[in-house]
Amino acid sequence: MRTLIKNGTIVTASDLYTADVLIEGETIALIGRNLDLAADRVIDATDRLVIPGGIDVHTHMELPFGGTFSSDDFRTGTIAAAHGGTTTIIDFAVQYKGETLTQALENWHRKAEGKTAVDYSFHLIVTDLPEERLPEFKRVIHEEGVTSFKLFMAYPGVFLVDDATIFRAMTAAAENGGLICIHAESGLVIQEMVARALAEGKTAPKYHALTRPTKAEAEGTARAIAIAEMAGAPVYIVHLSCYDALLKVKHARDLALPVYAETCPQYLFLDYSLYEQEGFEGAKYVMTPPLREKWNQEELWKGLRMDDLQVISTDHCPFCFKEQKELGRDDFSKIPNGAPGIEHRLSLIYTGGVAAGRIGVNRFVELVATAPAKLFGLFPQKGTIAIGSDADLVIFNPKAEMIISAETHHMNVDYNAYEGMRVHGVPEVVLLRGKVIVENGRYVGTPGEGRFLKRATFRGDL
Ligand code: URP
Ligand code: ZN
Ligand code: ZN
Repeated sequence: MRTLIKNGTIVTASDLYTADVLIEGETIALIGRNLDLAADRVIDATDRLVIPGGIDVHTHMELPFGGTFSSDDFRTGTIAAAHGGTTTIIDFAVQYKGETLTQALENWHRKAEGKTAVDYSFHLIVTDLPEERLPEFKRVIHEEGVTSFKLFMAYPGVFLVDDATIFRAMTAAAENGGLICIHAESGLVIQEMVARALAEGKTAPKYHALTRPTKAEAEGTARAIAIAEMAGAPVYIVHLSCYDALLKVKHARDLALPVYAETCPQYLFLDYSLYEQEGFEGAKYVMTPPLREKWNQEELWKGLRMDDLQVISTDHCPFCFKEQKELGRDDFSKIPNGAPGIEHRLSLIYTGGVAAGRIGVNRFVELVATAPAKLFGLFPQKGTIAIGSDADLVIFNPKAEMIISAETHHMNVDYNAYEGMRVHGVPEVVLLRGKVIVENGRYVGTPGEGRFLKRATFRGDL
């Protein structure tokens, strides 16, 4: 199958030019001006941007959490991703206490196989790491192609691991080219604050935020960086939400330490005031870290512009307002943590970033596709438009507008955190390895055609 994309504005992390793109089979075969070649399908991209498919390195499909499961599975969640111009996800497989790393991966393979609409890979959440399990790191990295791991400083009794475990994991990962991702918070201090709040009868959703202050995230971030430095390892801070934590990352990067961080659209567009709404409405925004005071947003944008933050992911972890968020109606600590977001990342970041003049269009592509591909061992197969790269492409209309709503979204969740927001810039046609999977607002692919990606080891030469 040959597809010719005509007359689009090609945007990569570094280039911006008008050209045609010839796709042969699954990969890009030729890029040039006025290509007059036979093709099975010609797509007119006049007045459109042609960008690499988005890569969302932080998703949770069907994640068991707080007595329930996140409401998107690998089919619904990746169809929603495709609608939003994301063609690769990296989801988090969970190792539970007593399980081997391999068992955890097998469980997640079973969840995903035959269902996914876009290409996918896994990070491994490690919760149990006795000395004898360390050799498994090597096998998982080199044989399974799972080259990144997440460790939690939060959620005591569920995911939290101690500093010795983090140090052990960082050392083992670094020896084998792995990258450790850290959920950075003072988990035990937060546990104490939560218990105090509940003892005082403070049960409303806003207390989720008030018991997880920015200082707790900053402390975790600084500690993660210090442990990584002692282990001689790189570290990637997930879902960074606030200026206090950003300062720790910035300081480390100024010292040339291999420290990287992502933020998410919710921390750029939504803020603490949403928890102060009437009744239980604030539960929709109970996620960890919580939404912060609004002034943090501009600091995060600055961090994105100045490369103190390298990636924008979604931390897509949806729970329905009815029945799932309801589990915490009388106790904020029982509200499942997480919010939906996989579908609108590109449109939101184009709107708040490029259209609003905060970042350029090359930086936009870098944040949502190229840097994630480089950091997580997928470049140059993914994350760019180049001869030989997978033809994961988005024909993006920068002039089109859309109003985000749960009534029209494709995620399997009964609310949208951005309900009513007008965005500029809409993915119109989405191709996965040369095949159109979204056009005319419809998913036209076949669930299951998404392929598992074995990833390369961490190189750090961003
Ligand atoms: O609230 C969140 N972020 N839920 C998902 C789990 C995590 O910590 O990433
Ligand atoms: Zn987390
Ligand atoms: Zn997460």
